[in-house]
Amino acid sequence: SPSDPDLVERARVAKEKLGDKVFVLGHHYQRDEVIQFADVTGDSFKLARDAAARPEAEYIVFCGVHFMAESADILTTDAQAVVLPDLAAGCSMADMATAEQVAECWDVLTEAGVADQVVPVSYMNSSADIKAFTGKHGGTICTSSNAKRALEWAFEQGEKILFLPDQHLGRNTAVRDMGLSLEDCVLYNPHKPGGGLTAEQLRDAKMILWRGHCSVHGRFSVESVEDVRARMPGVNVLVHPECKHEVVAAADYVGSTEYIIKALEAAPAGSKWAIGTELNLVRRLANRFAAEDKEIVFLDKTVCFCSTMNRIDLPHLVWTLESLAEGKLVNRIEVDPETEKYAKLALERMLALP
Ligand code: 13P
Ligand code: SF4
Repeated sequence: SPSDPDLVERARVAKEKLGDKVFVLGHHYQRDEVIQFADVTGDSFKLARDAAARPEAEYIVFCGVHFMAESADILTTDAQAVVLPDLAAGCSMADMATAEQVAECWDVLTEAGVADQVVPVSYMNSSADIKAFTGKHGGTICTSSNAKRALEWAFEQGEKILFLPDQHLGRNTAVRDMGLSLEDCVLYNPHKPGGGLTAEQLRDAKMILWRGHCSVHGRFSVESVEDVRARMPGVNVLVHPECKHEVVAAADYVGSTEYIIKALEAAPAGSKWAIGTELNLVRRLANRFAAEDKEIVFLDKTVCFCSTMNRIDLPHLVWTLESLAEGKLVNRIEVDPETEKYAKLALERMLALP
């Protein structure tokens, strides 16, 4: 709904009543009706830092998905409560790596005799359990805006990287930014015994990629790139690194949501862009830059929202803000202290990357 005026007013009143007690974070994939109430917007890296930089806010309302709220809880003080307006806002990619599967993977690496050479690098888009595993085994977290620096750091610590859970970000970064070949990468399938790999394959590999992916970005294809080039001669194709390797290879530019926004801000008037990322963001950018004569289209012909990001809508935000304003703490996301300790170690390694 393009913002029911009654709900907009209720959100405004509740937020005003809360004042500095509340800080609202909005990921770039959130709906317009939610983004209008965000105190800051950003990609997952920027939001993690912004959450940590607000110790005076009693409530951090995270308009995003569950793993982002967990990370915010880890990086904020115990006195602060992180709130997710709809508890069903998960992430299908993060769900593709469970703590049990990852522990089993480490056993496989140990049996193959390679575990002591492996440094785990986990994408922000993972549960707190996976982040804790990463911290415990000397690894770091990365986001789509610092994946290259995270891989460089990890290759200084060890010979091999176990990259979790997004195979595409791992492969794209290794091949595009680190000069590795596709043959240096192997795919670990958590649903197959031994990950579907032999000990020899594990010994030869430089990048062990977890078999996870984003269902939203996974829908873009080389055909969508070819189609848009035929439809819009001179178009610049800009995609998110969660897209498949062949899509990234066919594109002109690749980067995180924050990178995409900066690239469009810097683009000259009259330029044309096809963007391969979530639709709420692409539509917002198309509207924003239309006035500057920049033509921005969605890379695919079919719509492609992130359904879990979209669960956070204005009714959920109003309910959250009104509850908090009445002193009722709802939908708090709290990571247990033991998990938090090691997950924080991994997140702090990321925040300290050069
Ligand atoms: P970034 O905002 O870090 O680019 O991440 C994209 C994403 O898929 C978040 O869920
Ligand atoms: Fe997860 Fe993909 Fe949605 Fe991001 S866009 S929250 S990675 S499913």
